[in-house]
Amino acid sequence: MLLENEARLSEMELLRLCEIVNSRLGFSYGPEKKMLIVTRLERRLRQLNIGNISQYIQRLQDDPLEVNEFIELLTTNVTSFFREKHQLEIVNRTILPVLKAKDRKVFCWSAGCSSGEEAYTLSMMFSDAFSGDGRFSILASDINVQKLKEAMKGVYSSEAVKDIPDNYFRRYFMPLPGEQESYQVRNELRRTITFRKINLNEEFDIPANIRFDIIFCRNVLIYFSKASREQLIDRFHAILNDGGYLVLGTCETMDVHRDPRWKPLKNSIFLKRV
Ligand SMILES: C[S@@+](CC[C@H](N)C(=O)[O-])C[C@H]1O[C@@H](n2cnc3c(N)ncnc32)[C@H](O)[C@@H]1O
Repeated sequence: MLLENEARLSEMELLRLCEIVNSRLGFSYGPEKKMLIVTRLERRLRQLNIGNISQYIQRLQDDPLEVNEFIELLTTNVTSFFREKHQLEIVNRTILPVLKAKDRKVFCWSAGCSSGEEAYTLSMMFSDAFSGDGRFSILASDINVQKLKEAMKGVYSSEAVKDIPDNYFRRYFMPLPGEQESYQVRNELRRTITFRKINLNEEFDIPANIRFDIIFCRNVLIYFSKASREQLIDRFHAILNDGGYLVLGTCETMDVHRDPRWKPLKNSIFLKRV
């Protein structure tokens, strides 16, 4: 089936599919993504009992909800607790004390949070640094509704929780009753996070009075085209407080390095200059 579909996918069809993904998500997918697109579409075509990709493209044209399903298939959602630990240690050591010293509530955003591991990691770090005084709030967002539902549930396998330091794990997780090898994030932590669907390729639907002190957008920009990336960085700049921080994935410093509005700190962390 897979190879059949791949062989039957014409260049025009492939370009049409890439165009849909790119215009919605801001990605730069091109013909080199043929295999990825075909592989990810296989199961969906079976579910819908659709025999070929031409029919599927017709379906995408007739049904805007199917476009959402298609977009979700094409996002890559790999994530983990305490991912890029070295970078988080820098945040812990040098940034959290600065944020804690502010005489007000601090706002953090995990943009492109996937199934929530990054947001819960940040919440554990903030809770620890702020000694549970409740002076911080985390927005966690993604375009993928399925992943957001998983994030809100906050239930993870023993494999997923294995990199959480022991002291955090004992404090913030509990075994899920009736489920073997599954752990749920405690309410104390869940209360600190608001999960929302936000497309980073569109104007942010965020209350006008909110300004963030730190934005994490890690391992999201790699898929974006240069133009969408630049627009997104501009929007992050506008919604950060002066002296706020932007934390990117350690492999994606990209254009921000050359942008005078940002001061590069260590490990893909940038300071919004005043
Ligand atoms: C590889 S995961 C990264 C998760 C987490 N930030 C981390 O570093 O572990 C990338 C996430 O970005 C989301 N994403 C991709 N394009 C997006 C867009 N245009 N708007 C919002 N989220 C997007 C995907 O759905 C996916 O969950």
